[in-house]
Amino acid sequence: MILVLDFGSQYNQLITRRIREMGVYSELHSHKISLEEVKAFNPKGIILSGGPNSVYAENSFRCDPEIFNLNIPVLGICYGMQLMVDQFGGTVERAHEREYGKATIDLSDTTGLFGNLPSTQTVWMSHSDKVIGTPDGFVVDATSASCPIAAISNKQKGYYGVQFHPEVRHSEYGNDLLKNFIFDICSCEKNWTMENFIEMEIGKIQQLVGDRKVLCALSGGVDSSVVAALIHKAIGDKLTCIFVDHGLLRKNEAESVMNTFRDRFQMNVIKVDAKDRFLNKLAGVSDPEQKRKIIGNEFIYVFDDEAEKLKDIEFLAQGTLYTDIIESGTDTAQTIKSHHNVGGLPEDMQFELIEPLNTLFKDEVRELGLELGLPEEIVWRQPFPGPGLAIRILGEVSEDKLHIVRESDAILRDEIKKAGLDRAIWQYFTVLPNIKSVGVMGDARTYDHTIAIRAVTSIDGMTSDWARIPLDVLEKISTRIVNEVEHINRVVYDITSKPPATIEWE
Ligand code: XMP
Repeated sequence: MILVLDFGSQYNQLITRRIREMGVYSELHSHKISLEEVKAFNPKGIILSGGPNSVYAENSFRCDPEIFNLNIPVLGICYGMQLMVDQFGGTVERAHEREYGKATIDLSDTTGLFGNLPSTQTVWMSHSDKVIGTPDGFVVDATSASCPIAAISNKQKGYYGVQFHPEVRHSEYGNDLLKNFIFDICSCEKNWTMENFIEMEIGKIQQLVGDRKVLCALSGGVDSSVVAALIHKAIGDKLTCIFVDHGLLRKNEAESVMNTFRDRFQMNVIKVDAKDRFLNKLAGVSDPEQKRKIIGNEFIYVFDDEAEKLKDIEFLAQGTLYTDIIESGTDTAQTIKSHHNVGGLPEDMQFELIEPLNTLFKDEVRELGLELGLPEEIVWRQPFPGPGLAIRILGEVSEDKLHIVRESDAILRDEIKKAGLDRAIWQYFTVLPNIKSVGVMGDARTYDHTIAIRAVTSIDGMTSDWARIPLDVLEKISTRIVNEVEHINRVVYDITSKPPATIEWE
């Protein structure tokens, strides 16, 4: 495996993804990881990610310097290269100008990291510090007009550094460079496949669980469905799934989940009707983070109650993904939103958690689902947040508002499917922004709700663009919503990307 140490770059996950796409397992960990933990991973190579700090600043992010003495090749990217330079006595300084965007580099060496690559290539730069003096034992392998030391190496020691970002697609030969590092320099084998992952995880789950019992929070979304299928494959009937109908689901969702898992897959699924419980707790609450926390907590309490009835349940399985963990704040990443799978857990929780997807990205989870034999309609179901429609109603949640969102969402989904766009669009849903405006229907003036359509394209939910839905499809959706959903007299389309907006409105 390749261990990537996180120094806070916005691209740090991409490094891990690129390497996995090449068939080699990789994990991203905090730069604070201990030497012992690093050794336990037994990595074939270590990558130091970029980051926003300056290595010469007080309290800058550093890693245990002993990591360099493990006889494992190290590749420093951007800040990672500067850290390596600083570590070994070279010099890093603030650049006169911040360099951001495409640059051309010229190579003086086309072996090693740059093996078989063209001697002039386009790379992606994003830095405000630069290396001005290489440490003893290092040579300069690439230069660019504004960055004379754009890549360095000490081949004897297995240390490599690049100022640019090979993980970003704009770096023309970035993938090839990473391949050279992981296959030629680190001698990794291509053995990261979903089949291997399943085998490995089943072993781990069986060992961890033994004869004990697991409860799974099944929501019908891709993540929890895949978790349930994976754990069911590992421990069969020792898994009980609880499907909480919290009243915040989409139209017909509850029925469809029960049909699939209880009837088709023959799993133990208990359906809990907790609608009133959630709505009571949410009454009068309009702060988005508070809504999330309430729903997250209530979820666990419902499970606790069910588990007590079931007796002897010790584990709770959750479909937490890698992105949930990273977005909820690691040592370097800022908390953007506390995702309900992570941030909302109450402190007095009585279960041990099993989160077998917490190292996977969304596209990997879909691949895993298919490999486990789940039907395409589940594997390709659009992501749906744990707090459900509650975060698509801005402000206080009520039964009436839920009805409006649910019905308008069903129309939107129906038309998107009919237009054959359901695979191309990552997420599409309606939002009730809690604004009323004037309209005219028949001969009468109306003063009623606006519904917003949100539809985005994305690879993993971390960034997204608004979907270019054809205007005639939008027209059909708008007409149907206004005609068929009572209390809507206006439909608007959200044309913001993420960043600066987020996908959900709350
Ligand atoms: P945002 O709104 O942060 O959403 O751009 C990114 C992705 O995460 C989903 N999302 C959530 N999922 N609990 C979840 O399980 C949450 O609290 C939550 N908030 C957002 C969102 O639907 C999108 O796919």
